[in-house]
Amino acid sequence: MEKLKQRILEDGKALSGDILKVDSFLNHQLDPNLMMDIARAFAKQLVNKPINKIVTIEASGIAPAVMLGYVMQLPVVFVKKKFPKTMENMLVREVYSFTKDRVYTVSISHDFLTEDDHIVFIDDFLAYGNAARGIIDLCAQSGSTIEAMGFVIEKGFQGGGDALRAEGYEVISLAIVDSLENNEIKFR
Ligand code: G4P
Repeated sequence: MEKLKQRILEDGKALSGDILKVDSFLNHQLDPNLMMDIARAFAKQLVNKPINKIVTIEASGIAPAVMLGYVMQLPVVFVKKKFPKTMENMLVREVYSFTKDRVYTVSISHDFLTEDDHIVFIDDFLAYGNAARGIIDLCAQSGSTIEAMGFVIEKGFQGGGDALRAEGYEVISLAIVDSLENNEIKFR
């Protein structure tokens, strides 16, 4: 997506070789016009799929996911990064974050993810693919089907996207960054 790549070049910052800081428009402050363009770009690539629900993970996945939900007129459910004790019927899984070097628990209510669902998983970043692995497991537990996964930015050099594609998942990334070396952002 050309407009997104331009914005990454203008406002993104390559930090310490493998982190791309985009908090002026994606991870902290949000640009709703860009977000709507992102949603339309995802929707264009999803037209022929029998999707009935959008699944994302808190926090930064929610903005693009809810915009896509508006464009496709579909419900959006976000996976929680904790295990809410007050909620029943939860599907749960542990996820290791390589970037943050910690394990966290993700959960979703079985009420909102069932064997009738055909979902697209949306997230802001695809790095090593650990969050995506957590979603794959939650979908397996629920009996739902993953039709596609969409990421605003994929860090191609961390391998998560290529591994998922090799396993047959349809991975849609609107910008694939292949290098952040020497503080320079290079796209695939
Ligand atoms: P993975 O799921 O692809 O394996 O990624 P990893 O565990 O390594 O990433 C954990 C968190 O770090 C995720 O956000 C992910 O979006 C974010 N992240 C990974 N690489 C980058 C990067 O280069 N730049 C930025 N800005 N974020 C990155 P999170 O902790 O779940 O945060 P949030 O969704 O609550 O914001």
